[in-house]
Amino acid sequence: MELPYAEPYKIKTVEPIRTSTRKEREKWLKEAKYNLFMLPSEYVFIDLITDSGTGSMSDRQWAAMMLGDESYAGATSFYNLKEQVEKIFGFKHFLPTHQGRAAENVLFSALIKAGDVVPGNSHFDTTKGHIEYRKAHAIDCTIDEANDTQLEIPFKGNVDVAKLEEVLKKYPKEKVPFVCLTVTNNTAGGQPVSMENIEATAKLCKKYDIPLLLDSARFAENAYFIKMREKGYADKSIKEIVAEMYKHADMMTISAKKDGVVNIGGFCAMHDAELYRKASTFNIMFEGFLTYGGMSGRDMNALAVGLDENTEFEQLDARIRQVAYLGAKLDEYGIPYQRPAGGHAIFLDAKKVLPNVPKEEFVAQTLCTELYLESGVRGVEIGALLADRDPDTRENRYPALELTRLAIPRRVYTNNHMDVVAAALKNIYDRRETITRGYKITWEAPIMRHFTIELDKA
Ligand code: F0G
Repeated sequence: MELPYAEPYKIKTVEPIRTSTRKEREKWLKEAKYNLFMLPSEYVFIDLITDSGTGSMSDRQWAAMMLGDESYAGATSFYNLKEQVEKIFGFKHFLPTHQGRAAENVLFSALIKAGDVVPGNSHFDTTKGHIEYRKAHAIDCTIDEANDTQLEIPFKGNVDVAKLEEVLKKYPKEKVPFVCLTVTNNTAGGQPVSMENIEATAKLCKKYDIPLLLDSARFAENAYFIKMREKGYADKSIKEIVAEMYKHADMMTISAKKDGVVNIGGFCAMHDAELYRKASTFNIMFEGFLTYGGMSGRDMNALAVGLDENTEFEQLDARIRQVAYLGAKLDEYGIPYQRPAGGHAIFLDAKKVLPNVPKEEFVAQTLCTELYLESGVRGVEIGALLADRDPDTRENRYPALELTRLAIPRRVYTNNHMDVVAAALKNIYDRRETITRGYKITWEAPIMRHFTIELDKA
């Protein structure tokens, strides 16, 4: 008999979590103004709010932390990380920052001015925030197929090259500081971008003389999908595929809290020495001196190991198989989600799961709260709350998709936890006809409102 699959690691340290009653959760949720970001984590049983900074580090990473060099200038930890960054991504210049949005802040300060446009596939919310904060516009050129959750195509995160060319034709070169390609495409459902698409995008960028930036939070998962799904890559290692992906890029930003498997950290990196100089000043101003930016020496050391380990096939295979496992459970119960299952998360199609909640009452958020009440599982809304208001008209933007994201931390939960999540969703789905009301906003911040929003029952 063929042996079944198992994770390529065993568990050395555990952290207790506890269940609660529905009555307790009702009280806590009300106190949190129906915003799951405002819930203390001890009130959560299975936390799928994000896979960012929530992974389990390996024993090698913990060991590397003890060797962290905390020198203000020229720490060995910086050089360890610099060496890995050059080895894995091929960039000579890099600036460590405390996380991904900080890398955006530093690099975009050097690149974006008011009135600019930044086209790409779905920009992540902090990326869009850092563009719009500078009075520039993010233009989403993702393929239309990404909006059909039931369509199974291998690279649903791709940019529509024709749409992108329209934008590059329309705006003068001076108004387009760079094209931003997010790998994997988080907002569209953790969906990968093919090598062919990266190459085609890079070619178009060259034609119009615009630099290409890869937003790299989940670059290794993207490489895994290229290996598994794209012709010609089956026999290549993840590291070889990553090197090929980044051959096409001029620069990158990364939240290392995802595929770097660290609890905090990020960086931006580039080939252009002039740009590095310019961004350096902003790094010193916003983050810290060039050789630590926003990170301690021990964090940089842990990241250097994390980048090396998480660009190995077995690690990625275990992780992505767990996401697929949850997807298969949901298939069993007929619960609709963005297909195929993504790299880091399952994105429930909230409009299909709760067909009777009006869009003005925030469907995906309603599904998040229902799931929490049912089981103590915390997901996150990727819908109208996150889409925020149009910066010009201040009207609510209702995106084509209302998604409830269940992001699975790396190496943290077992498949038994996934079974609980799926069963809770089945219970909700079974009574979907009776769920007809959602929420109304009682307070919101002027930008990035979803983190701090206050809601009440509609
Ligand atoms: N880019 C992408 C594609 C992201 O998914 C994130 C963060 C960032 C940039 C910003 O990085 O959080 O380190 O400042 N995504 C997290 C998530 C928060 O839950 O998807 P950060």
